[in-house]
Amino acid sequence: MSAQSQVPVIAIDGPSGSGKGTIARNVASRLGWHLLDSGALYRLVALAATRDGLPLDDAEKLAEVARNLEVQFDSDNSGGEQIWLSGSIVTDEVRTEECGKGASTVAPLQPVRTALLTLQRGFRRMPGLVADGRDMGTHVFPDAGLKVYLTASAGERAKRRHKQLKGKGIDVSLAALSRDIEDRDRRDSERLVAPLRPAEDARILDSSSQSIEAVTRTVLDWASDL
Ligand code: DC
Repeated sequence: MSAQSQVPVIAIDGPSGSGKGTIARNVASRLGWHLLDSGALYRLVALAATRDGLPLDDAEKLAEVARNLEVQFDSDNSGGEQIWLSGSIVTDEVRTEECGKGASTVAPLQPVRTALLTLQRGFRRMPGLVADGRDMGTHVFPDAGLKVYLTASAGERAKRRHKQLKGKGIDVSLAALSRDIEDRDRRDSERLVAPLRPAEDARILDSSSQSIEAVTRTVLDWASDL
């Protein structure tokens, strides 16, 4: 058994807006484990490629971008997340809808996924890793000790996103957001390569009518025997 495979992993997968990011961050922070936000890596590939003027359908060039991605995750002075790309802070850019769309365009390309596999597995370090994404339990960490598939209804996810954007002073209609979420769900789950679906041994958790704290506690409770 390799040293890396002895590092415990909690895989949290699910559609956008299900609360995966928040739950993964809470669980990692309470356990004192590392965190992998794999969606951010796909967003960073799209962002880096756009900056280099590359079209988002050139699989080989995009894979090269992914292989050479110079990325760092840390926290700012107030504990908020900070994402660096090639030496500059791109935290806000990475979270835009445009970058999300770019990410979902590059994500179906197999060479990009293969290039990101090594990078993602490198996050597996002691004392443990909480990995958030779409295929953490199915492809990246199939041996994860706990696999959670976090869902919420499309309407609830659109409402959450709407509130989040409003908080940032961004005004988008709820109907347009719902359409975007449904379109992205369809692209993510119908794609041939690593489609969004629960691993066979995943525990399904519907967060539609639950507080963040309740969902965090459920995951921590399931993780207690890891
Ligand atoms: O979770 P997110 O919104 O940051 O993800 C952005 C896009 O990246 C999303 O459309 C799906 C894709 N993605 C993926 O294909 N595999 C992952 N492990 C994470 C994200």
